[in-house]
Amino acid sequence: MSEQIGVIGAGTMGQGIAQVLAQSGFTVSLFDIASEPLERALEAIDRSLARLVDKQRLSEAESEEARQRLTTTTDLETLADCSVIIEAAPEQAALKEKLFSDLDRLAPHSILASNTSSLSLTGLAAVCERPERVVGMHFFNPVPVLKLVEIIRAEQTSDATVEKIEQLTEAMGKISVRIADSAGFAVNRLLVPMINEAVFLLQEGAASAEDIDTAMKLGAAHPMGPLALADLIGLDVCLAIMEVLNDGFADPKYRPCPLLRRMVDAGYLGRKTGRGFYSY
Ligand code: 3HC
Repeated sequence: MSEQIGVIGAGTMGQGIAQVLAQSGFTVSLFDIASEPLERALEAIDRSLARLVDKQRLSEAESEEARQRLTTTTDLETLADCSVIIEAAPEQAALKEKLFSDLDRLAPHSILASNTSSLSLTGLAAVCERPERVVGMHFFNPVPVLKLVEIIRAEQTSDATVEKIEQLTEAMGKISVRIADSAGFAVNRLLVPMINEAVFLLQEGAASAEDIDTAMKLGAAHPMGPLALADLIGLDVCLAIMEVLNDGFADPKYRPCPLLRRMVDAGYLGRKTGRGFYSY
């Protein structure tokens, strides 16, 4: 059996990470607390693999082999044999701390990587008896398409842990950059304030959502405009990242736009709820 990697959380990011690992030849155990999200994740992975086969990026046989390397579980203990466990659970500090403290006990030999976009890796490592094996491995949505992984080093992370995650990133066909453990890391610190500023433009009535997005697509060659991107990321996630930047740097330039907050309060979270700056 090939090297076994665990993925925690069957949401959008966990699905994408599991798919890319399986396509890259790893044996993958995808964990979630219930079987329904796991079934939905497998359906989404099947659709994504089928699209790659249609586009002749992958052969039928390769797709089938990738699927065979992928299993699901609702039992955290089955991840104990994984060389690396990548956590992509919801962005709630208490939940992630509990998971890391459980994994620290259940999987004493695994490297524990978190896909967190906003929490301090140093704080997560601090709940573990062996904090030197805790590291950030931050992927970008859609994971099968975007090449970057930010590797975030907690204060406690060892060189061996960082090197192992660099090798894993390369084996997944991705490119890594190393970033210190600071609010927003690199990409979100640059990207999400731009989105927030686009929401200010909209709130001020300076331009329509469509025109703001067209401006950035055609004027700055972005693949999608900031408001469409906010809908893809999730408005709740964008707001949470702005809060982390605001708290972390105590600088008014990171003030979340009131319209962004109101939309989150209304439950208009973007694609995942069918409504954000656009309707889906
Ligand atoms: N899964 C797998 N493949 C996908 C996909 C998905 N969810 N979405 C798109 N693709 C593939 C398509 O199949 C297509 O493949 P092809 O080149 O072989 O035809 C390719 O990606 C391009 O897709 P489309 O032609 O459908 O559409 P676009 O050219 O408009 O690309 C996009 C769509 C890839 C989403 C592109 O618009 C894009 O890269 N947008 C920016 C996304 C971005 O900035 N993400 C980062 C968000 S920040 C983040 O994730 C961090 C977190 O912490 C918040």
